[in-house]
Amino acid sequence: MNIAIDGPAGAGKSTVAKGVAKKLGFIYVDTGAMFRAMALYFLRNHLDVTKKEVLEQEVKNIEVTLKFEQGEQQVLLNGENVGGLIRTEEVGNTASIIAVNQAIRSRLLEIQQKIARENNVVMDGRDIGTCVLPNAQVKIYLTASSKERAKRRYEELLKKGVDCDINDIEEDIIKRDQADMNREIAPLRQAEDAVLIDSSHMTIEEVVDAIIEQYDQKK
Ligand code: DC
Repeated sequence: MNIAIDGPAGAGKSTVAKGVAKKLGFIYVDTGAMFRAMALYFLRNHLDVTKKEVLEQEVKNIEVTLKFEQGEQQVLLNGENVGGLIRTEEVGNTASIIAVNQAIRSRLLEIQQKIARENNVVMDGRDIGTCVLPNAQVKIYLTASSKERAKRRYEELLKKGVDCDINDIEEDIIKRDQADMNREIAPLRQAEDAVLIDSSHMTIEEVVDAIIEQYDQKK
């Protein structure tokens, strides 16, 4: 049984997907973390991520693996657990840049499909319902207004003690959405058979329950 959740940056996909996975006893797979781990490799090595040749050459040297410890996904970059290093805006934006490349996507696609074949998963990302798991029994397109997404991200950063400007965050979110929606390969879009959920005025629990309801209808 596979549940695919796609949507733009900051829509609450990971929080909601984690909640659904916990309730159903499924594994939660965060595919964004895989792109982020790859992005970290390029940043650390000061490589030019806008050059196709660089991406295609270097992808051979990058091994991204997922481990699950007590149901929690750990992401490894060439054997190193990089979970604590990939949550920055710089890594997120770089992930979006390298995600346009076919060689990068193919490498990760294989790993994602294998995990879904072997486990019951809730998988979130941008192209899960459209490309990675086109046969997923439940497909959700989770979104929220860019204002609401920026507000959530702003509050999250404030809690962490990071000083930031809400308008800059919104601008960044819009820019990343544009890039993810308009790329040639596996762009972010709602699959034809996906259920649209706009979480702008919903709590996390309400969204989790709405997805479980979809699952109950399909199981
Ligand atoms: O969900 P996130 O912010 O962790 O994702 C970071 C970037 O990775 C996102 O802007 C685009 C890319 N990505 C992708 O292209 N396909 C996915 N399935 C997941 C993420």
